[in-house]
Amino acid sequence: MTAYFNLQFENGLLHFINQVKLPGCVEYVQTDSFDRIAEAIERLEIRGAPAIGIAAAYGIALSQKNGISGERFAAAFGRLARTRPTAVNLFWALQRMRNFYNDHSAGITFELLLAEAVAIHTEDIHHCEAMGINGLPIFTKVSNVITHCNTGKLAVGGEGTAFNVIRTGWLNKMVAHVYADETRPLLQGARLTAFELSMNNIPYSLISDSTAGFLMKQGKVDLAITGADRIAGNGDSANKIGTYGLAALCKFHNIPFYIAAPSSTIDRSIASGDEIPIEIRSEDELLCLNSQRIAPENARAYTPAFDVVPAGLISGIITEEKLHLPPYNFV
Ligand code: MRU
Repeated sequence: MTAYFNLQFENGLLHFINQVKLPGCVEYVQTDSFDRIAEAIERLEIRGAPAIGIAAAYGIALSQKNGISGERFAAAFGRLARTRPTAVNLFWALQRMRNFYNDHSAGITFELLLAEAVAIHTEDIHHCEAMGINGLPIFTKVSNVITHCNTGKLAVGGEGTAFNVIRTGWLNKMVAHVYADETRPLLQGARLTAFELSMNNIPYSLISDSTAGFLMKQGKVDLAITGADRIAGNGDSANKIGTYGLAALCKFHNIPFYIAAPSSTIDRSIASGDEIPIEIRSEDELLCLNSQRIAPENARAYTPAFDVVPAGLISGIITEEKLHLPPYNFV
């Protein structure tokens, strides 16, 4: 077991690790304010698709802590929904809390809403475990694995999506080594995945994103696995910018590329990835590094936070239900 947590609800407060400060500083924040939770999601203090949804569910419950108010519920819902557009888990969790609120009408209480948020959190813990087990068949031999962004405990309620497939493979002696993309521009790989691999004693090398192709050419990668922020009905999957490039490299080198995500990441209302809204982040996230400007003063940047991997590049999608193989048809 690892000695850090991501999200925990205790004594009327949501406790969360401030991911912006990792790995140098392990700092926990406590709040009972939905607005502070929304701010944390915007700033990426809380990040990763399932974790955003769980935190938003706690935010909705907390908006009713000092008395039930439909007006405050709507304000919290709107504020949280405006934080980040791509990860569908956010909207899934918000909608589930709204349905719960409406279904209980006059009998609704803070305690009931909190219990529903805890249920969302607890289900995610179980879904992470199931993904770890359902992913085991992808390791047909002791494998060297490449991953992108962060999909571990820091991104979810449990032990991770893609990260927990890797971790479960490692615990079952089917993973030899992990190559973690640094994940420019915000370095979720270098700061967070490397931190979590270290905490789990899994052997790894950090690589710059641009090293992946050369590594594959050298025969050092057996398979790739990442998470997802939104999966369309046909299996097209949005994930951290750079995932599409990684999947295309895998195709070129004949290396299987897998996605692991809970079914709350599947958006059955959209047919293809063309309909996935892609978040554009502040240009400063690319133009600056550690608050230091690295590009000329007049430089502009293009900063999509996510890209979409076409279903045709995905060898399998691991959910808590099973390993889905192509063709995908989530309806
Ligand atoms: O911008 P982020 O750090 O929230 O992006 C996160 C990712 O792209 C993850 O790969 C995805 O949310 C899956 S997390 C289990």
